[in-house]
Amino acid sequence: MNASMPLISIVIPTYNHANFLKAAIDSVVAQTYRNWQAIIVNNFSDDNTIQIVSDFKDERISLINFSNDGVIAASRNEGIRNARGEFVAFLDSDDIWRPEKLARCVVALAAGSDIVCHGELWTGVDAPERVVMYGPRSRATYAKLLYRGNCISTSATIVRRSLLTRLNGFDERPEFVTAEDYDLWMRITRETTNISFVPEVLGEYRRHGGNASNAVIKNMSAELAVIEDHFSRQDRSFVRLCRQRHRRARAFYGAARALDSTGTRATSLKYFARSFATSPFVPRLYPAIALTVAHCVARRASRRTMTETRYFSIARHAMAEALRAIGIKSGDRVALPEFICRDLLASIHHLGAQVAYYPVDESLRPTRFPTESDVRAIIAVNYFGFAQQLEPFREYCRISNAVLIEDNAHGFLSADENGALLGTRAPFGITSIRKTIRIADGASLSINDQTYIDRVSPQLLPTSNKSLRPSIARKFSTVDRKFHLPIFRTMRTLARQMRKIKTGATLPISDPSSETEPLMIAAPYRSSLRILAQLNTEKEQARRRRLYKQVDIALADLPLRPVYTSLPTGTIPYGYPFLSDDRTAKLAEKITRGFGVEIIKWPDLPSAIEQGAPPHYKNIWLVNFL
Ligand SMILES: Cc1ncc(COP(=O)(O)O)c(C=O)c1O
Repeated sequence: MNASMPLISIVIPTYNHANFLKAAIDSVVAQTYRNWQAIIVNNFSDDNTIQIVSDFKDERISLINFSNDGVIAASRNEGIRNARGEFVAFLDSDDIWRPEKLARCVVALAAGSDIVCHGELWTGVDAPERVVMYGPRSRATYAKLLYRGNCISTSATIVRRSLLTRLNGFDERPEFVTAEDYDLWMRITRETTNISFVPEVLGEYRRHGGNASNAVIKNMSAELAVIEDHFSRQDRSFVRLCRQRHRRARAFYGAARALDSTGTRATSLKYFARSFATSPFVPRLYPAIALTVAHCVARRASRRTMTETRYFSIARHAMAEALRAIGIKSGDRVALPEFICRDLLASIHHLGAQVAYYPVDESLRPTRFPTESDVRAIIAVNYFGFAQQLEPFREYCRISNAVLIEDNAHGFLSADENGALLGTRAPFGITSIRKTIRIADGASLSINDQTYIDRVSPQLLPTSNKSLRPSIARKFSTVDRKFHLPIFRTMRTLARQMRKIKTGATLPISDPSSETEPLMIAAPYRSSLRILAQLNTEKEQARRRRLYKQVDIALADLPLRPVYTSLPTGTIPYGYPFLSDDRTAKLAEKITRGFGVEIIKWPDLPSAIEQGAPPHYKNIWLVNFL
């Protein structure tokens, strides 16, 4: 290799980030500059990290298992120790690079730079995309970094290895965690001024979004620890003490701004106040305080309607996350109607909790609530998009201290008689969106209470879906609906017949194992979120209501009983549920075939309920409008 093609060692520390890690390594493999080695420093992840890495059949990629005790600096230093390249690039496992990144940076390194940094695109689910340019060079001096803060980003930086070795790499003090890079950049700028900034976006820094208030405070504490450490090595002049106070005030100010953007405004105000008390000479402080106070007042006024949403691949994950945020643990009980799909039990068992059942009548209203004392959450089901009356549940919660979760089975876009969207009427709302519109996956968790908003995890980054099946099915079903053609239906019938030959049943039947199936919380597909964002909701709402009325008329002469006697305003039905025997359901199927719908039996009852279930649990059929 000649001097202008130096070997770059890429250090990628990772922990339980298999999904993200794959994208990060993909972005390394896609580099147009090919003289690199990638060292993945795996902190003994218990997901499929090792498999993901070994699937890359590329000898430039190696994996080290290394326990870092929560100190990422230790992993990076282990990577540096194993590096052979003249330069070391850092890439966090949840970030990615543009293909030309190394090629562009090598130009600056070949011209003599000891350290090079480029611009990044900050992406994330909960916040708008933002281009961030680091530097400029005049800002990257020791004094400016210390007095004004960091202006260099780890995943965007390449450093000469000899420099890193001379400086003993990152400082591994636990109190520096998350600001260890800031400390290193300062130590580097004391050694060299050969820094260049490439004014181009060559990487993506992925923000995980959601409520990150803990992370902000942790980061601020680490920043303060670094600052104090550096100031402590300087003389104790009056000017130095003033600068130190001012710098602390800036750190508080930065944290207050970050907290403000995560929606934690009360805590944000606290840090604005600390910033002011430490040094009132931070000019940006004043407009920021005014804005935050205004937000706080506005939010207090609309506190009851605060809602945040997280998306998952399936509703069981949404449910598990809600139960986790409530604090359900092993041995607790979660109350559930007896008339429920057995799959949902997996969310409860996932946390080691137990189920307390309550029965429902033929209108699917509870007839009594559980009497056990350790029920910590109760699930109210809005069956088929029809609003469940929540008052009795609220009363039960008042007495028992249980937390109410609304499960929309599957009332996507449906509202109650007051116009309140189903899923927003209790602290938590869960919807399996994939069951109501034709998308590959997708479910949502609405969190409608500030206490819990602060407790749920940030939005998982969406993943990509490699299978073409869902999008083909979607296209065909759209064409069928538009032109009244039976293509999709015929394909579906064929698939069902094949399944019948193989398994003896036309529809997949879940077995008792689905009640205890392990849940690996998974993000939704990007394509599902895109389809959802583009959905014409009014059209979809109108289609469902129209179908309901058409089916109601078409089945009027059959000896069956609709579960609901009317279609209240705002109700967006999942389908048309009715009580009947199997023979009548077959006739109903024939009659409704022309609407492009199918009839299914709902639900697959939990095994504990199946035996001895009252007839109405076993005889509910559904004309499915999917
Ligand atoms: C009432 C109810 N909630 C939640 C779920 C789980 O949905 P998902 O299959 O998306 O996990 C089901 C399953 O059908 C259900 O019936």
